Order: sequence, then C-alpha cells, then structure tokens
Amino acid sequence: MSHSIVLTVNGSRREIDLDDPRMTLLDLLRERLDLTGTKKGCDRGQCGACTVLVDGRRINACLALAVSLDGAEITTIEGVGREGALDPVQAAFIAHDAFQCGFCTPGQIMSAIGLIREGQAGADPERIREAMSGNLCRCGAYAGITEAILEAQAALAGTDARRSA
Ligand code: FES
Ligand code: FES
Repeated sequence: MSHSIVLTVNGSRREIDLDDPRMTLLDLLRERLDLTGTKKGCDRGQCGACTVLVDGRRINACLALAVSLDGAEITTIEGVGREGALDPVQAAFIAHDAFQCGFCTPGQIMSAIGLIREGQAGADPERIREAMSGNLCRCGAYAGITEAILEAQAALAGTDARRSA
C-alpha cells in the first residue's frame, strides 16, 4: 500500500507517493528528489552529514521516516543561498577555510544555520563546539568551522565577531 505525503521542500510543494513507509527522509531527498547535497555518511545518526532543517529545526535526515513528516517544511543545502548571494554562513565557511574535502560541509552548514536560529550558542566558542558536536568532520576542520559560525552569528546579529571573541 502506498502512502501519500505533501512536503514543502526548499519552498516548493511536493506531492510524494511512498511505496515503502520505511523510507527515510534522507533517501527520499537523495533518491526521489535528486537533492544529493545532503550527504549519507553513517546512515545511523552518528555523523551529522545528513543534517537538514524540518520546520526550522535541525535533524538527522537518516533517522526520520519520510511518512511521518506529512505537511512539514524541509530546507536542504540546495535551498540555502544562491549563486552570487550566499547565505552568511556559507560565506563565513569560505572565509575561514572551514572545510577540506567538503563531504561534511552541507550538514555542518545546515546545523550551523539551525544553531544560529536557536539562538543558544552566543559568542562562546566552547558552546558552539558543544552544540555542533553531532556533526563530525574527518578532515578536522573544526577550528575553521567554529570561527565561521562565530562570524556568521555576529554578522547576522549586526555585530563584529572580533569584538565578542
Ligand atoms: Fe545521518 Fe550520519 S548519515 S547522521
Ligand atoms: Fe572533509 Fe569535513 S571537510 S569531512
């Protein structure tokens, strides 16, 4: 039996028939909607490579059943920024060399955007590291990632990161 759901994905309404109710949001995005910017690392909630926003909150897409998200608004890395108009978090990642191979980067950026929206990290690098601890980076770009988030957060708050660091 197939299940029909409606999602808003990066601003577009998508009506989707699911033959398999066990399909994860990650597989739906990558295999049905061709949104391959969201990465599959561990597929078991341990690496954060699959982080997307669901109704504004960051989640691991590999742990969410698509069928349970009927009506939800999904934002993936493809829905963030545009060519020539990067999101402040994307711009800060570039400015601070916050990636090497780039595999973890979509998840890091989505998690950072969610974190900044949560408004809980403040300007404390240690709190940012803790709040981002679910996003692993095999290349070890953590220092740049933390600096980028501090800068993006300050930019979005209209302050100067260097004053509050
Ligand atoms: Fe989802 Fe690793 S692929 S947490
Ligand atoms: Fe390579 Fe993070 S930049 S895994």
